[in-house]
Amino acid sequence: MHEIVRQLDEKRASARMGGGAKRIAAQHAKGKLTARERLELLLDPDSFEEWDMFKGHRCTDFGMADDVIPGDGVVTGYGTINGRLVFVFSQDFTVFGGSLSEAHAEKICKIMDQAMNVGAPVIGLNDSGGARIQEGVASLGGYADVFLRNVEASGVVPQISLVMGPCAGGAVYSPAMTDFIFMVKDSSYMFVTGPEVVRTVTHESVTPEELGGAVTHTTKSGVADLAFENDVEALMMARRLFTFIPSNNRESPPIVPTEDPVDRKEASLDSLVPDDPNRPYDVKELILKVVDEWDFFELMPDHAKNIVIGFGRIGGRSVGFVANQPLVLAGCLDIKSAIKAARFVRFCDAYNIPIVTFVDVPGFMPGTAQEYAGIIKHGAKLLYAYAECTAPKATVITRKAYGGAYDVMSSKHLRGDVNFAWPSAEIAVMGPKGAVEIIFREEKGDPDRIAGREREYREKFANPFIAGHRGFIDDVIMPRETRKRLARSLEMLRKKKVERPWRKHGNIPL
Ligand code: COA
Repeated sequence: MHEIVRQLDEKRASARMGGGAKRIAAQHAKGKLTARERLELLLDPDSFEEWDMFKGHRCTDFGMADDVIPGDGVVTGYGTINGRLVFVFSQDFTVFGGSLSEAHAEKICKIMDQAMNVGAPVIGLNDSGGARIQEGVASLGGYADVFLRNVEASGVVPQISLVMGPCAGGAVYSPAMTDFIFMVKDSSYMFVTGPEVVRTVTHESVTPEELGGAVTHTTKSGVADLAFENDVEALMMARRLFTFIPSNNRESPPIVPTEDPVDRKEASLDSLVPDDPNRPYDVKELILKVVDEWDFFELMPDHAKNIVIGFGRIGGRSVGFVANQPLVLAGCLDIKSAIKAARFVRFCDAYNIPIVTFVDVPGFMPGTAQEYAGIIKHGAKLLYAYAECTAPKATVITRKAYGGAYDVMSSKHLRGDVNFAWPSAEIAVMGPKGAVEIIFREEKGDPDRIAGREREYREKFANPFIAGHRGFIDDVIMPRETRKRLARSLEMLRKKKVERPWRKHGNIPL
């Protein structure tokens, strides 16, 4: 017995050393933590239960039979975050570069299957040189087994990816199918083909960081949600994100008690919208003043800034916010912003997190660039997402709600549950200037008459009352009362249930 215990201790110690002291030092020298250090920070102290610590690969080619490292390059198991169960895998770059073998994939699949069975989220920490080259197709099969589970778990348990090192080739498609991707600046990158292949095929010269670093993916491509300075910050923010989301699609997010009264009035909101309709304001100020304790967790803050998305709480309960941002492109909807918001709306709907939408949108972005790139199809994504969403939906039109964009932004017509407007709301087919230029084209040469027509149009349409008369908005509210009115609405909607007709799945325009 003593001998076995001694062996067990030895084996554990050996597994914990991964690829050895030298490679651990190299990992630290790159500013990266090891797979186990990361898990220690991510999970509550002493909560980690490791599985398959002794599992090894079965490859015998290229001298691999003599090179078996326990754990095979990934640490897997479960633990808790603020006491809530979560399954984790953390790739160990010190072991064969964290590359994915058949056995490595089996370990990931095992925790994913169990996470699904018990209804707990999965957090993956990616740091890998990709498919285990020595294993060939066995490794590719392993990837596909993981991909399949990513898809099966989508909308059932939340999945979060933290890319903290290389993630290239087919490997990118596992994080790509998860709900949120965090990256670390200067030490992580994601690309389908690396700089060398790019140079050969397209003759472009590009660094890994430029091609697929954290900044690239959180600004240009929109592949990742947030970029962090280092591993520690990324892990702490994953813990924070965790507080806003439920464990699975049948549970609610945790309630976070607050001292912030739900009927708190914010007088400053009465003057948030400038008198001049062409002057912008920062919609984030509105969100911050509405949520509990100014606590807003913004996602994708540097990509498609003309729309703001993220989580906050009202009365201690999680809410997803979607808001047009008048500071950027006057808040127009374009391809990137529609895709960004649509995916967020679908996440909230999948997990029944109520959505509050703040609308100030002059329309869709005009131009050949947008049309040729398919704004019709991509804009339709947001329309589709709001329309299919049965999670509670509350909307506040703060200023412009023009044209098709009015319909799209969680309007009553898409079964918005509660639709409010501020007195400054203008709900119309288009702005007064554009409208008058079209319907009074023949008076174009007469500036006085045109000005009069614009005034007439503004008085008639640029206000919330016609929509109110139709019942398209439920009430015109004072800006200072927004938090209180939303809190009541969300409370009223708490037990909302909508049955939808059976179908295999819809066909969202992709
Ligand atoms: N399969 C097997 N072993 C791999 C591997 C892979 N895909 N990727 C890396 N490794 C091993 C290396 O052989 C090295 O082993 P060693 O410590 O015994 O010398 C170790 O992991 C670290 O790799 P190294 O190349 O020294 O690290 P780096 O930080 O300089 O570079 C990469 C990292 C990912 C850019 C580089 O390893 C690489 O290009 N790997 C291959 C990527 C690839 O083509 N994958 C297959 C397609 S998905």
